[in-house]
Amino acid sequence: MHIQLHTQRTDAETTLIPLAQTDDLAEQLVQIAGEVNLPAALLQQDFKADSKELLPVYRAEGRKVYLLGLGENPTAMDWLKAFRETFFRQKKKLSQSVSVDLSAFSAEVVEAVVLGIRWGGYDLKLYQTDKAAAPAFYTQEGHLSLILPDTQKEAAQEILDRAEAIAATHHEILNLMNAPSNYKTPQTLADWTLASGEKYGYSVTVLNKEQIEAQGLQALLAVNKGSDLPPTFIIAEYKPVGQEGLKKVGLVGKGITFDTGGISIKPSTNMHLMKSDMGGAAAVLGTLEVAAKLALPVHLIGIVPSTENMVDGSATKPGDVIGSYIGKTIEIIDTDAEGRVILADGLGYMVRNFQPDVLIDLATLTGNSIAALGYHAAALLSQNDALSNALIAAADRTGERLWRLPLWDVYKEDIKSDVADVKNYSGKPFAGAISAGKFLEVFAEGHEAWAHLDIAGMAYGDNEFGSQKNGTGYGIRLLIDFLRHLS
Ligand code: BES
Ligand code: ZN
Ligand code: ZN
Repeated sequence: MHIQLHTQRTDAETTLIPLAQTDDLAEQLVQIAGEVNLPAALLQQDFKADSKELLPVYRAEGRKVYLLGLGENPTAMDWLKAFRETFFRQKKKLSQSVSVDLSAFSAEVVEAVVLGIRWGGYDLKLYQTDKAAAPAFYTQEGHLSLILPDTQKEAAQEILDRAEAIAATHHEILNLMNAPSNYKTPQTLADWTLASGEKYGYSVTVLNKEQIEAQGLQALLAVNKGSDLPPTFIIAEYKPVGQEGLKKVGLVGKGITFDTGGISIKPSTNMHLMKSDMGGAAAVLGTLEVAAKLALPVHLIGIVPSTENMVDGSATKPGDVIGSYIGKTIEIIDTDAEGRVILADGLGYMVRNFQPDVLIDLATLTGNSIAALGYHAAALLSQNDALSNALIAAADRTGERLWRLPLWDVYKEDIKSDVADVKNYSGKPFAGAISAGKFLEVFAEGHEAWAHLDIAGMAYGDNEFGSQKNGTGYGIRLLIDFLRHLS
């Protein structure tokens, strides 16, 4: 499907008109009623513009007009979800060419509309052999016209280009998130990044197991011990040429391609969802790719330590004391708290080798963050107020919500080990997202502008695409928005 901007109605077989619950809704419906030759009272009776309400109006000459409700004061996320769900549900009924009438809105809505429509075409049936053919609208021949006010067309083009860049990367990231672990290994993440770097012109270095050993990334190696597959350590760097004085931002993502829990093995109910325990890596790698595509004026470094967390005779055991890149020793109380252990080396390597101005890590780290915030926000942990506020502002703009939890030093007690420098689990069934943050803080080595995002509840979730939780691509829109507003 390709997308074009227009300032006048096109002759698409299907026109979709989004409407918010504003004071002049009744008036807008009078105008629409005139255009479709129906009594206004009928539309006013049957359409209240509730969120995601859809009213199809069939016209004698064979065209179709959909009125789509957006509810009251729709946010970017409301727009995105209304379009995503509507296009997903209607995709088989959509004509090959569809137009969306945005003439009552400003250019800003284009991003959410396009992301929603593109995402609505996502097909989770990655490995089904008897799939139906793609609906006409979502094939190469499909066509989408966005109708905007004259004054908005120019601004809309840039927004459309950005949305298309994000949508294409988002689609790939969803495929990675949803791939099972027999299709997605630490090498798969590395290969994806190498190919992306090649395509969009940023540099990628992948350390293999021998190089990881030589570098002393001992925490990553300890988590990898139970796995038949070697770990990878992915370092991606995007730096626009010829621009000086750019902010250097380091992103670190948890790349566990399957988390069994290790010897502290997880119960089998829902263990299959642990194929998506690389949601932090997905956010980091997706952000690198989009930033390079958009040529954002920022120097970005992405680091992804990647391994499975498996169980076998050589796996790390509870009580074991392991080393780390920065030299601190870690007592492993629970082998299922593996994310923070590999991030310890990701953060340590980032800080010691790149000294970024801003350091952000993302990880599907704790069930406890879900206990605190459910599936509506990721936990943000940082001692830096300005960075926290900038991240929260980006979260509010994009609807990829963040909520801050404290990182007070009183919680340091939770990670004090009797025998090593630090332990990986407090042993207590509370404040687990915070003690994980305190653990990571040790390996950020006092970095002034470090933030940790625990995205366990957001990286995948329930939605219209399937009966099981599946990838959301959380973090890409958030971080791109954050980077665009970086001063
Ligand atoms: N990958 C999990 C966290 C997780 C849980 C992500 C649910 C998504 C959904 C992580 O490695 C883990 O197992 N964390 C443990 C830590 C505990 C042993 C300290 C947890 O949260 O239970
Ligand atoms: Zn775990
Ligand atoms: Zn995990």
